[in-house]
Amino acid sequence: MTALKLVGASAHKLWGGRFAGESAPELDALNRSIGVDFRLWPFDVKLSKAWAIALWSAGVVTVEESLALEHGLDRVADRLRAGAQPNASDEDVHTLIDRLLHEEVGDVASKLHTGRSRNDQVATATRLWSMDAVGVLDTAVRELQMVMLAHAESLSAASVLMPAYTHMQRAQPVSAAHWMLSHFWPLDRDRARLASAGRAAAVLPLGSGAVAGCAFPISRVLLQGSLGFAQLSLNSIDAVSDRDFVAELLFTLSMLAIHLSRVAEDLIIYGTSEFGFIQFGDSFTTGSSMMPQKRNPDALELARGSGGRLLGDLTALLATLKGLPSGYNKDLQDDKRALFDAVDTMMLVLPGVAGALSEITFRADKMKAALSSSMMATDLADYLVGKGTTFRDAHAAVGSLIRQSEETGVELHAMPYKTFKTAHASFGPDVFDALSAVASVERRETEGGTGPLAMKAQMKSAWASLA
Ligand code: ARG
Repeated sequence: MTALKLVGASAHKLWGGRFAGESAPELDALNRSIGVDFRLWPFDVKLSKAWAIALWSAGVVTVEESLALEHGLDRVADRLRAGAQPNASDEDVHTLIDRLLHEEVGDVASKLHTGRSRNDQVATATRLWSMDAVGVLDTAVRELQMVMLAHAESLSAASVLMPAYTHMQRAQPVSAAHWMLSHFWPLDRDRARLASAGRAAAVLPLGSGAVAGCAFPISRVLLQGSLGFAQLSLNSIDAVSDRDFVAELLFTLSMLAIHLSRVAEDLIIYGTSEFGFIQFGDSFTTGSSMMPQKRNPDALELARGSGGRLLGDLTALLATLKGLPSGYNKDLQDDKRALFDAVDTMMLVLPGVAGALSEITFRADKMKAALSSSMMATDLADYLVGKGTTFRDAHAAVGSLIRQSEETGVELHAMPYKTFKTAHASFGPDVFDALSAVASVERRETEGGTGPLAMKAQMKSAWASLA
């Protein structure tokens, strides 16, 4: 969150008229959202400029007044860009911009709020912010996918094989590129969800007023076009309180965080001395203050941990929305806390994971050494099926071989041929070919399988999804 220095304290309020007394400082402190929503200022300026034009075309302000408002808003933006800070009495970003606009253009600034409310204003600004964030997030996810794809390319070029696990037990040999891409596709789905969250945000609420619509003949269609929205909201009561787009973005980010936690977990485990499949680099790991030998994958652990925070943001928003009466309610002010926290967190995590992954080196030797011949048990059973045995009988025969292997400590490939023959009469001397990990991988050529041709097609699809 941007650290704000609140300076000065001359009260500028958008709503003081009907109150005889001052509001309590405790209310001001609770009500004030400038510390969270300050970052909406570029979007609030943008929509306010569009509103100034809409007021002119509706005949509410003259062309001179409209231009004065527009130019004044440009100067407000210049000041904010140059580092102008809110003062202690600015309730929220809309109040701040209104105050600065008064400083820039004087009384004509008081005309800008005609026909609009902070209710349609904040909904519009938050949507614009979200549409922008979706683009930034998409780029960051795409960069991580590129790192994965680059690793997949070199692993595949070197024909590196590794064990695939189910229940965290060695299951079957796969190409290491196949494993790498197993983390690529979830991110592809996340990008599709991001695009969908962007479409959910691209519905313009401006012109809904506080709740009932706008009494002046402003063109919402022109506002929609000039602000880059894809659609108009169709019900003003719904429009001022619809935060579905925030929920959709937060769900998308939660799902993304869950995917990143799984990538991180695989890498952390594979980087242990016990596995040794990968080695971490220097730039995204840390040392220990006590144990000189340590290299800790902090970036990946922080990524894994951030899933909890993102789920918290989603849950907080959904809990806020549940049971809200229709129309705008101040509860909604908290939507931005969750939204900004989730996006900020993700924009720290994504480059961290991409960086940590990019500097990892793969130990093909260690992966190969982990390919014990019992992992080809399914291939042995398939071999018997090829000789006319039912899969159930084949499974039982190979099972008995595995039991003997466990009891004697002799691996399948080191057992004498006659042991195979005793387990099932259909085993021929070529049985040892079925125990090759390379052959096992090469046999799995159905679409989405780990066979070399299927892998080639998968890589092609992966490149296409990034194009
Ligand atoms: N700061 C408020 C928010 O974020 C702006 C809307 C205020 N609307 C109101 N009726 N007080 O939701």
